[in-house]
Amino acid sequence: MKKNLSLQINGQNISREVNIHQTLADFLRDDLELTGTHIGCDSVSCGACTILLNNLPVKSCAILALSCQNANVMTVESLSEDCTHPLQQSFKKNFALQCGFCTPGFLMMGLSLWQKGKEYSPKEIAEYLKGNLCRCTGYIPIIQAISEAIKGNTKNEEGESVGKSKL
Ligand code: FES
Ligand code: FES
Repeated sequence: MKKNLSLQINGQNISREVNIHQTLADFLRDDLELTGTHIGCDSVSCGACTILLNNLPVKSCAILALSCQNANVMTVESLSEDCTHPLQQSFKKNFALQCGFCTPGFLMMGLSLWQKGKEYSPKEIAEYLKGNLCRCTGYIPIIQAISEAIKGNTKNEEGESVGKSKL
């Protein structure tokens, strides 16, 4: 059985018929061809499928697409096509990816912190990333990459940029 789903994805209004049992991850990948959202475990354990739902990071394999009616969804494709977003640049500079399978999930976790415009310690970032798994990098370069990107986006109380990007 199918029902109509209307929502905003990466700034675009989308309206589609979706199967009532379809997950958001499958909807993004299979129906919209947004294959940057990866499916690793498909059981809420690895975080490769992380997207932002109304600005909060969630594992899209655990969410029914139809529960996102009128929601605002951001996927890794929202960053930049040519790797120019500060987070993507920082991942590159810090060698924070190897096979890259986990990377979309970590980038979206990083984006959720980056958007806050506050600074976080490496320990706080590590704690925040606990639900995302990487079998290649040992995590330290990922934490370093997110930390550096966030430093470049730190704002004061008036919302003015005070961070010095080291990118
Ligand atoms: Fe969703 Fe692993 S694929 S958490
Ligand atoms: Fe390979 Fe993270 S870079 S799983």
